[in-house]
Amino acid sequence: MTMTHGTLFKLQPGGSLQGEIRVPGDKSMSHRSIMLGSLAEGVTRVRGFLNAEDAISTLEAFRAMGVQIEGPVNGEVTIHGVGKHGLKQPEKPLYLGNSGTSMRLLSGLLSAQPFDTVLTGDKSLESRPMRRVTEPLALMGARIETQPNGTAPLHIHGNPDLQGIDYLMPIASAQVKSCLLLAGMFAGGVTRVTEPAPTRDHTERMLNGFGYPVQREGATAIIDNSGKLTSAEIDVPSDISSAAFFLVGASIAPDSDVTLRHVGINPTRTGVIDILRLMGANIELLNQREVGGEPVADLRVRSAVLHGIEIPEDLVPLAIDEFPVLFVAAACAGGRTVLTGAKELRVKESDRIQVMADGLQILGVDAQPTEDGMIIQGGGPIGGGEVDSHGDHRIAMSFSIAALRAGGEITIKDCANVNTSFPEFAQLARHLGLQLSVLK
Ligand code: S3P
Repeated sequence: MTMTHGTLFKLQPGGSLQGEIRVPGDKSMSHRSIMLGSLAEGVTRVRGFLNAEDAISTLEAFRAMGVQIEGPVNGEVTIHGVGKHGLKQPEKPLYLGNSGTSMRLLSGLLSAQPFDTVLTGDKSLESRPMRRVTEPLALMGARIETQPNGTAPLHIHGNPDLQGIDYLMPIASAQVKSCLLLAGMFAGGVTRVTEPAPTRDHTERMLNGFGYPVQREGATAIIDNSGKLTSAEIDVPSDISSAAFFLVGASIAPDSDVTLRHVGINPTRTGVIDILRLMGANIELLNQREVGGEPVADLRVRSAVLHGIEIPEDLVPLAIDEFPVLFVAAACAGGRTVLTGAKELRVKESDRIQVMADGLQILGVDAQPTEDGMIIQGGGPIGGGEVDSHGDHRIAMSFSIAALRAGGEITIKDCANVNTSFPEFAQLARHLGLQLSVLK
């Protein structure tokens, strides 16, 4: 897909959101379905796969390593697994676009292969920190060259003789945990990864779904190289991180009533619901069920009067991707909202603390960035204006939602990367009532 960095979103102010939609499939699970399906023996069928640039980066990487993959067609992907030792050396560097998950998880898997690989990405991805994975991988015996400042391109010299480690992660990161578990599938001895706070556990759940044992002892995930993956049927629920824009939108816009169908509500992902409820949101979980080892529900959200809170730090890793839109909720909430303990936001697709504070200030919101969070004095008027998403998909969608409570038109620059996670955003948002036009 081509990226038109000039894509603008133009929003007319006001309105309400009403209706029922299903947002696209979960990004984290879509990545993992390709990775594990490729390493499995037999044919894996995936439904609900996210057809967006990030997940396609992973899919194309495995195609380049000799895996036959059909689709996605209507969210269906068929993967002809090559088994744990069946990947082939790609002919070219693997270009992973904007996708941090692809790069960090693949670095673990590829460290253990009997061939060398090079991982590259776009400007944002090639400025993100990779030592958080290359350092623990080096302890396992991996040989990875980064750029001098620890960023990609990564030159991985495959080493089939990795050794397991017992690793306490200095940061709560599901990407680091997953990277080490994937390396641990190939390493001698036992690999134990301990997280300082709970993070999304889709890798562990899906490995078990493919019949590969991963043990859990408290905060530690444990894996060794004795297992094998057997093909599975994967049903990917809708991405709560995409649903989040409408959870906030329908909460802040008057007269709103929205139902988001079939959303994944894995407890390691539902921090956004907990935080919004603490702020006074009216969100109901309907029709709760379990699909393919993951909990799912329909989420009904109606307008509510929100108030500012001090966001509990233990909820931060459970809502890590939702802070851009939670800042918009805070701007609409009466009183002060304080976020701390969220330094990681500075190394996402953009510096989400700085970029959101800059944009909110342009719209007249009292938003003060801090080293590890933000202080927002909410409830005042939100104006119109021109803000820059810095090519960060979630920033572009968050400022779109802010228009529901703005007093003037909002223009958002550099929105093409919405296609990395949620290509249908504009269409679904308009369907619910957002007055959004896309200018290329
Ligand atoms: C992800 C983990 C999180 C999250 C990212 C997806 C994953 O990153 O922000 O969007 O799929 O494992 P960190 O591990 O850096 O927190």
